[in-house]
Amino acid sequence: MEIRLEHIHKIYKRGSRQHIVLKDINMTIPTGKLLVLEGKSGSGKSTLLNIIAGLSKPTEGMVYYDKTSISWLDECQKAELRRSNVGIVTQDSGLVPYLTVSENINLLNDICNKHVTKADQLAFGEKLLENLGLASLKNEYPSNLSGGEIKRVAIARALVGKPKILIMDEPTANLDKDNVEKVWKLIRSHTDQGSTVIVATHESDANKYADVRVYLKM
Ligand SMILES: Nc1ncnc2c1ncn2[C@@H]1O[C@H](COP(=O)(O)OP(=O)(O)O)[C@@H](O)[C@H]1O
Ligand SMILES: [Mg+2]
Repeated sequence: MEIRLEHIHKIYKRGSRQHIVLKDINMTIPTGKLLVLEGKSGSGKSTLLNIIAGLSKPTEGMVYYDKTSISWLDECQKAELRRSNVGIVTQDSGLVPYLTVSENINLLNDICNKHVTKADQLAFGEKLLENLGLASLKNEYPSNLSGGEIKRVAIARALVGKPKILIMDEPTANLDKDNVEKVWKLIRSHTDQGSTVIVATHESDANKYADVRVYLKM
């Protein structure tokens, strides 16, 4: 799926003052490309990713997935669209605290997934856990994991449904060098299978892997 942003503005209200975070952002991310969004902390990376994911509304502007404007869908329609097409890693990872690693990863295939059969997804989930060094942790709860382990579980969860759109907020934060490399390789290989991918990072570890790099100025 192609992602297109048209005239995206985001203004937060702080008391009586307006805080302009995004000002007229226009871009197209072609199907099967990896865009890396860079910028200092506070430059608006998470704000933009959440808008692209349909988790937050722009003050002005439109987001399209192919020909569909997600800005015009209601919350239920957006949730449905995300569930079947979009994998997301938010900055706080967002694991469900009362589910184990394995249950967190398989949560979505219990609800619905249109591209992958349940058996394939379970098998792929196992492979991802293995690949990310999490196999021995699959029955643990998130509260027993380190920050880097939580991040990797969230990455496995986002990838397991082979989503057409993958949106990741700082997926390599808290990871050691080996894991940073592993995660970028997984992201690249997912992109090469035809997914459209956007990754925000404040580290310059993406050079080798990105098709396009965009720098958000403050
Ligand atoms: N919900 C919110 N309400 C008000 N201000 C916010 C909110 N979310 C983010 N901001 C502000 O918007 C700016 C951009 O934040 P963010 O998108 O998280 O940047 P980044 O991810 O690049 O660090 C920051 O100044 C932040 O304080
Ligand atoms: Mg952020």
